[in-house]
Amino acid sequence: MAEPSRLEIMKKAAGTYAADHYIKDGMTVGLGTGSTSYFFIQRLLERCKEGLNIQVVGTSKASEEMAKKANVSCIPHENVTDIDITVDGADLINPNFEIFKGGGGACFREKIIATASKEWIVIIDESKLHPTLFGTKLPVEILPFCYQTTIKQIHALGFEGELRLDEKEKLYQTDNGNYLLDIQLTQPLDSAKSTHDALIKIVGVCETGLFFDMASHLIIGKADGSVEVREAK
Ligand code: A5P
Repeated sequence: MAEPSRLEIMKKAAGTYAADHYIKDGMTVGLGTGSTSYFFIQRLLERCKEGLNIQVVGTSKASEEMAKKANVSCIPHENVTDIDITVDGADLINPNFEIFKGGGGACFREKIIATASKEWIVIIDESKLHPTLFGTKLPVEILPFCYQTTIKQIHALGFEGELRLDEKEKLYQTDNGNYLLDIQLTQPLDSAKSTHDALIKIVGVCETGLFFDMASHLIIGKADGSVEVREAK
């Protein structure tokens, strides 16, 4: 088997730590999406095999599929109300715990599960720490109906975005059948909240990939396999 890469070691450290330290018997657990959440889910499923009794809800079909394959109880979406805790990854995070998410294509589902959770924990490798959020793309999930009008209004706010394509060069569709507009910021955001508020007001915008005032803890995986845990201020 190939040696794990530096990034994999960091992601695994963060995911494993979260699964071992934050999840308790009887909890309803939200499963994040992406390569760091993968390690969280993997360790969680191991714990279920060892006797941990939980039920889960996925932020994507891929994450849910992992739990279903391991015969862990998945709550049907129409029955989800309260979630004890959700653990999810991030694309970038600044010192104020303002986060860009959706790079993996699960924006809206991740947001609704996060807001329904009593506790939301973010797991990252060190490369995701950023002084500002400038440098990566901000995904915005938009509804397909008349989507060009939605994009026109987003551009009118001064944001330049491109629709994400899938591997067949077709318009990428989220698990909810929506499109993703990846906004390339031309300058750091003045405020995550005002940017989110301006975008979400546009009819046709389903959700933005800006997450703020949500995370209670940040778990940062390090290259030596250790973790650093930061609490929200
Ligand atoms: C999924 O849409 C994203 O929000 C992911 O949580 C985020 O992109 C982090 O993914 P990785 O853990 O794969 O970097």
